[in-house]
Amino acid sequence: MTFDFDTPVNRAGTDSQKWQKYAGRDVLPLWVADMDFKSPPAIIDALRARVEHGIFGYARPVKSATESVVAALESRYGWKIDPTWLVWLPGLVVGLNVTAQAFADPGDEVLSLAPVYPPFMSAPRNSGRVSVTVPWAHSGGAWTIDWDVLERAVTPKTKLFFLCNPHNPLARVWRRDELARLAEFCLRHNLILCSDEIHCDLVLDPALPHVPTALLSPELAARTVTLMAPSKTYNVPGLGTSLAIIPDAMRRARFVRATAGIVAEVNNFGYVACESAYRDCEPWRQALLACLRDHRDFLVDVVARELPGVRVEAPIEATYLAWLDVAALGLADPIAHFEKHGVGLSDGAFFGAKRGTHVRLNFGCTRATLTEALRRMKAAVAVK
Ligand SMILES: Cc1ncc(COP(=O)(O)O)c(C=O)c1O
Repeated sequence: MTFDFDTPVNRAGTDSQKWQKYAGRDVLPLWVADMDFKSPPAIIDALRARVEHGIFGYARPVKSATESVVAALESRYGWKIDPTWLVWLPGLVVGLNVTAQAFADPGDEVLSLAPVYPPFMSAPRNSGRVSVTVPWAHSGGAWTIDWDVLERAVTPKTKLFFLCNPHNPLARVWRRDELARLAEFCLRHNLILCSDEIHCDLVLDPALPHVPTALLSPELAARTVTLMAPSKTYNVPGLGTSLAIIPDAMRRARFVRATAGIVAEVNNFGYVACESAYRDCEPWRQALLACLRDHRDFLVDVVARELPGVRVEAPIEATYLAWLDVAALGLADPIAHFEKHGVGLSDGAFFGAKRGTHVRLNFGCTRATLTEALRRMKAAVAVK
């Protein structure tokens, strides 16, 4: 079966945050992380059948939804989980906030590596915890951890490490030896490790397997909260359905207690889409990955050849998000500049980068949109 990632779907005038931002303006939105592709046909069919049922009462996952998740984790990553470890959540950012509240007290510190997805920094702050970031190092065309700096960042108040695996916005896949070292670090400092693996099914480089952090050792699994979701890969983030996987029963109970009375339940459609995503959509996912690899290669080539002053600093190994170094353009506000030329990007400063140095580009769009956006960026670079 072939899948269509080329026919444009008009999202203007819909409830899309991505497209509403520039309503009425000729700006191609390549910012927030959802894709301009329809979800897999199997998911759409499953949702249609659910709509036809016609009753949308309070929901609980059916056995087959849980089985679908469990089977996918085992077949893709060799991770055998017990269904009782799962806690369903109406969004992954919810999971970051709940983790901060469950495993750190007000004033305690939550470590992460920046630049990073902004809620890694805001989730601790939302409840009076402190976000401490350690900057990524860059050497030999790769992003690396400065382990000495990381060690020095730990204080008696450090309780949690927030890991983005694979990493957004650096589009980086973690190597097993790095995860092993991080595991040792967390165990030695008695930290709970929260591993956000929302992008794990979007690894573009076939030579780089995704390693679920909790697989490293039973000892580490016992202190790990893994957060996953079908939302990025199958383009269903608006259905708000995510999972926390917490092997340790006491810690799971603590996490669930922190959700009480605040966190809403997952909705009917989210469960249906999730079940179908993990069970029925592997051919679609493989086709998507091929399309995204193609887009990535095209983007990297155009940036290198036609966008002087813009740089892809390291290979884009996963996700549909490209982290671009634009410092050499010397723009005070690169976002405003590219918007003026018809392209809407994400500001690197939100991810913790120095203002004016980086932007993030979402290439989860049709080839035609990407081509036009890069043409506009070329014009923008020429007149900066
Ligand atoms: C690393 C990461 N975590 C979480 C999310 C968002 O998750 P949710 O929409 O389920 O809250 C994103 C979205 O871009 C992300 O990149």
